[in-house]
Amino acid sequence: MSQQYRITLLPGDGIGPEILSVAVAVLKRVGEQTGIGFQFQEALIGGAAIDATGDPLPAETLDRCRNSDAVLLAAIGGYQWDTLPSHQRPERGLLGLRAGLGLFANLRPAKILPQLIDASTLKREVIEGVDIMVIRELTGGIYFGQPKGIFEHEGEKRGINTMVYAEHEIDRIGRVAFETARKRGKKLCSVDKANVLEVSQLWRDRMTQLASEYSDVELSHMYVDNAAMQLVRYPKQFDTIVTGNLFGDILSDEAAMLTGSIGMLPSASLGSSGPGVFEPVHGSAPDIAGQDKANPIAQVLSAAMMLRYGLNEPEAADRIEQAVQAILDAGYRTGDIMSPGMKAVGCQAMGEALIQALG
Ligand code: IPM
Ligand code: MG
Repeated sequence: MSQQYRITLLPGDGIGPEILSVAVAVLKRVGEQTGIGFQFQEALIGGAAIDATGDPLPAETLDRCRNSDAVLLAAIGGYQWDTLPSHQRPERGLLGLRAGLGLFANLRPAKILPQLIDASTLKREVIEGVDIMVIRELTGGIYFGQPKGIFEHEGEKRGINTMVYAEHEIDRIGRVAFETARKRGKKLCSVDKANVLEVSQLWRDRMTQLASEYSDVELSHMYVDNAAMQLVRYPKQFDTIVTGNLFGDILSDEAAMLTGSIGMLPSASLGSSGPGVFEPVHGSAPDIAGQDKANPIAQVLSAAMMLRYGLNEPEAADRIEQAVQAILDAGYRTGDIMSPGMKAVGCQAMGEALIQALG
């Protein structure tokens, strides 16, 4: 074994355990082929952690994650936890993990695969060739800003959240975005609401300042409402997008759906040092959990992103991505990406096809 990596697995809720077990099988096979050793350890997060410990992110889970080389997360959440008070909800586990590991940069690629063009709800000519990277700020903005809460005020309740960005927070996500754009199509679109929000005016000023250090990257600015429209009108105009936490949450779902199914898309969450977290963009899909219907591809591609961005093992990442292409070429489809004439398979069978394709 040339390399040994400690990977913390967070299966979470819903379809999480089924899709994660496919990704682990794929990693083991690729590891054998490339001489990479993985030491996997599981930990609890989300609803599963609430049921077992009362806490969506037990201290032990955060410790294990901190002491590993990378974290592979599946998905969290489900109906049975939706009515709990907000500090006990599964989502809190995910937000705590991001904050606890300092994962300020979230990379969400939305690339159209030629095999799946017909699975998109948009016209072929609109989406053919789309290849967008959404870079979302992940540990600041309105998700974490203070004050926050529900308070009594003049005889009624008031809900408050605060959208705040400090210069250093904008600069560090800006740098990740410029560096990423530099390795891609050299076009960066910064999305904000600077016509209304002061926090966005500062965001825009800092991005403009940073641009002088990256003269090879072409920077543009767009208001978020326009960006939402442009993404479905003419998505090919975008290469790399950088935006704050809330706008990024919304736009990354929209960009994902251009590709036909959110079940295909991986993501990487990175800090300035320490382990990254790699997870599908989709959620825990409780409606199909345990029925062998889930599409494991986003999870498998998240494992590839972990190899590429978290462990610097590009060859192993390439192998996984090629295997995904191969099974799509061979016509294997889960329900979410099924189209006429293709072979309908479940989650497990998709996993077996992937292992076969790896050789
Ligand atoms: C995401 C999700 C999370 C978010 C939720 C589950 C807290 O929607 O990763 O995009 O809002 O960040
Ligand atoms: Mg989201």
